This record gives sequence, C-alpha cells and structure tokens, in this order.
Amino acid sequence: MRLERWTPDDLPLMRRLLGDPAMTEHLGGPESEQKLADRLERYVEREPTMFKIVEDGEPLGSVGFWDREWRGEDVFEIGWSVLPEHQGRGVASRGTAMALDLAAAMRRRRWLHAFPSVDNAASNALCRTLGFELLGPEEFEYPKGSFMTCNDWRYDLRDAAA
Ligand SMILES: CC(C)(COP(=O)(O)OP(=O)(O)OC[C@H]1O[C@@H](n2cnc3c(N)ncnc32)[C@H](O)[C@@H]1OP(=O)(O)O)[C@@H](O)C(=O)NCCC(=O)NCCS
Repeated sequence: MRLERWTPDDLPLMRRLLGDPAMTEHLGGPESEQKLADRLERYVEREPTMFKIVEDGEPLGSVGFWDREWRGEDVFEIGWSVLPEHQGRGVASRGTAMALDLAAAMRRRRWLHAFPSVDNAASNALCRTLGFELLGPEEFEYPKGSFMTCNDWRYDLRDAAA
C-alpha cells in the first residue's frame, strides 16, 4: 500500500469519496459536482499533501493534511476516507500512519489535529490507536449552516520525528 498524488483522471474516485451521501454522513453531506471538480483541481495543482491510498494500482481511499490555524497556533489538520468495499481491514489506519510520518518529516508544524464527529466510531478508534491525544469535544459549523460536535484529537509531530 502506498500514498500517491491525485491526478486529473481521479474525478470518479473523488465523487465516490465525497459526492456520496453515506460516505459523507459525518462530513456535512455530499459535495456538488462543481465543488468536487474544484477540489480535484486544487489537489492536483496546489495541494501536494493530499493523497490517494493505492494498492496494486487500485485506489482504496484518501488521506491528506493541510494548514490551519487553531486556537491562535499554526497546525496541520488531517482527514481520511476509505471506499466502502475496502473498509474494516486497516486501510485508513495504515494510510494515516504513512501521512503522519510525512508530516513529521517536514518539520514545519509541531501539532497535527483531527476533528472526527463524536459519532464516527471508526475515526475516533483510529485516532486513539495511532497515538493521538483526546483534548475534548468542540462545536463546528461545517459546511456553513450545519452544526456538529467533533472530537479534537492532537498528535505530536515533534515526538514522532525524533
Ligand atoms: C472512517 C473510515 C476512514 C475508516 O476506514 P477503515 O479503513 O475502515 O478503518 P480501519 O480498518 O483502519 O479501522 C480503524 C479503527 O476503526 C475501527 N472500525 C472500523 N470500522 C468500524 C465501525 N464500522 N464501527 C466501529 N469501529 C470501526 C477498527 O476496528 C479500527 O479500530 P482499532 O484502531 O481500535 O483497531 C471509513 O469508515 C470511512 O471512510 N468513513 C466515511 C468517511 C469518514 O467518515 N471519514 C472520516 C472523517 S474524520
């Protein structure tokens, strides 16, 4: 299994991950075709830390991290998603572990956060297993107009890079 950059041919994968009601239940609902296309263009052209998780040439899902400000500090935020037929066999855990290694190797940020919905059992379990620290629940407005309660999980990239 490996992480690969997105390409312009990946709209079908993007659509399955973020354009599907079941897959986006904890993410504020499916994105429109236009938003999916804009997101793919962004990943291809300007966001080198957004990845596909690939095994034997077949895409299984995605993982990526990006800059954000959180409580007055510059941090990374990370997110992940795995196609239904590949869930439940450690793909998100392994892909996320690889992304954490890359983020740590950049030595650009100390803290990386994940904000899974409190109802997202698999994502919360994954954070705990990979060594994130649970800081507590937070209210988020995402997308605009819809509110959800997410856990704030924090990962220390400095310790990981040591
Ligand atoms: C969340 C998601 C990425 C997990 O992917 P996955 O490849 O199935 O996850 P893994 O197999 O690596 O399992 C991760 C952990 O979740 C647990 N888990 C897996 N499916 C689960 C489920 N349906 N309910 C509860 N726990 C579950 C696993 O046992 C594992 O726990 P452990 O670390 O204690 O062993 C996948 O369900 C998904 O894409 N969901 C839709 C999109 C989404 O919610 N993205 C995350 C936003 S933060």
